[in-house]
Order: sequence, then C-alpha cells, then structure tokens
Amino acid sequence: MKLTPSQLKQFDEQGFLFFPSLFNESEAQLLKQAAKDVYSLNREEVWRESSGVARTAFAAHRYNPTFANLGAHPRLIEPVSQLVNGPVYMHQFKVNAKAAFDGDVWQWHQDYGTWQRDDDMPEPRAMNIAVFIDDVTAANGPLIFLPGSHKHGLVEASYDDKTTSYPLWSIDKSKIAALNNEAQCVAPTGPSGSVLLFSSLLVHASPPNISPLNRTIVYLSLCHVDNHIRSFKRKEWIAHRDFEPIKPLQDDCLSKLLQE
Ligand code: SIN
Ligand code: MN
Repeated sequence: MKLTPSQLKQFDEQGFLFFPSLFNESEAQLLKQAAKDVYSLNREEVWRESSGVARTAFAAHRYNPTFANLGAHPRLIEPVSQLVNGPVYMHQFKVNAKAAFDGDVWQWHQDYGTWQRDDDMPEPRAMNIAVFIDDVTAANGPLIFLPGSHKHGLVEASYDDKTTSYPLWSIDKSKIAALNNEAQCVAPTGPSGSVLLFSSLLVHASPPNISPLNRTIVYLSLCHVDNHIRSFKRKEWIAHRDFEPIKPLQDDCLSKLLQE
C-alpha cells in the first residue's frame, strides 16, 4: 500500500493519517479472537490494570500466529517504510485493551519521549501504526491527538510511574493547553479494522473507558533499521532488540489463516 502525495502532505501537516475499515470484517474478527486468546494467557508480557483486567499484551506477535502475520502485514509495513524512507524493524508490539468499565487513562505523551529517554533511539525515525480491533467511539476511550504537535520536536516531560501500571514520560497541562491553542485536539473514531498511523512525536493521550464497550487497539511501533535503540534498560519484550528488517507478507496473510 503506497501513500499518495496528498496523504504525504496531510501526514506532514497533521502528524497522522486515518484509514477507516482498512481491514475487512472477517480480518477484524480474526484479530478480535487473537486478542481474546492473548489476554487469557498468564504470561509476564500481559500487564493488568489494578482491577485485574488486561491493560496491554506486549510482544504478542511472538506468541500468537494471527498477530505474527499482522506484524508483517503489507498494509501496515509499506506505508511506514515509505514515511521513514527505508526498511523497518519492530521496536514494540502491543495489544492495548482499554477494557469496558475498567480501562484506565494513558496520560498526555509522545512515544518518542520514551524511546529516546529510556531506549536511546537516536532520532524520531519511527512511528506507530494502530489497528482498531473493536469499534472505537467517542464513548469508549479513543485516542486523542493534538494535530501538528509533532512539529515541536521532543517536548519536556516528567517520568510518571504512579498514575497507572505502565510508566510513561508525561507532558504537563500548561504545555498541552498551549498546543491545543494552535490546533484543537481530535479523536479519530471508526469501525473495527480501521487504521491510524501517527508520528512518534505527535502528542496524544486517551481517557479512561467507563463505557460498557471494550476498546482494543493493536500498535506496531516501527523504526528505521539504522535508527535502532542503543540502550537496553527495558525488558527485551517491551523494547525489542531484533533489528532485522521486516519482510512484508502477502496482502491475504490474515484471510489465509481462516482457510487453515
Ligand atoms: C499509547 O499511547 O501508547 C496507548 C494509548 C491507548 O491505547 O489508548
Ligand atoms: Mn503512545
């Protein structure tokens, strides 16, 4: 999948692109079952909220065949390779639950804030591509973006290991208010199978999910192979150390699993 010149322009200006229903209903159904399977596992990679419901399953592409194929899907790998201008490796793979009633907040942050400070990733030549596994609505804890905030480079942040079970370099309220004055925050919503691609410098957050609807999203964090991390403080299954370029599979790599 190749991005058009107008999509490239939009990405440059806004810091993200949205592709509603990029995966069809049967592909999305397969991903939903895979998420259910990984959350039922008792593994150290599966982190839970204080209530006990799953928050994040890290590195699920290593222990679930559906996520293994998603991790090399051409609809995801190709546009990111195009944007970072070269081959990519998987820096992080996570399946974020944001479960009905109990899904907790993700504070305001930039992903490169963590990748640079904790993992010593040299440049922001990396980004996230997110696949909605459930429908994402205004009610169930959507991602909130500050459009254009990626143009500010790395912004000041402080280490927060108290608010949730997941430590994060979070950005203070006055900086968020100033960025919001430049361009008001937006929350892209859409059906399961939709895809959001966003810069690792884009400032974003998500509110708690007190709705009765789950909001599961899978994130591939992809990095140019030359820009691999230099510091290995975090667990290997959180910040990966396999810097081999991902070889994209065929476009039907998910639907093929349905025939097996
Ligand atoms: C993230 O920003 O890394 C995750 C946010 C979410 O899944 O709501
Ligand atoms: Mn993030």
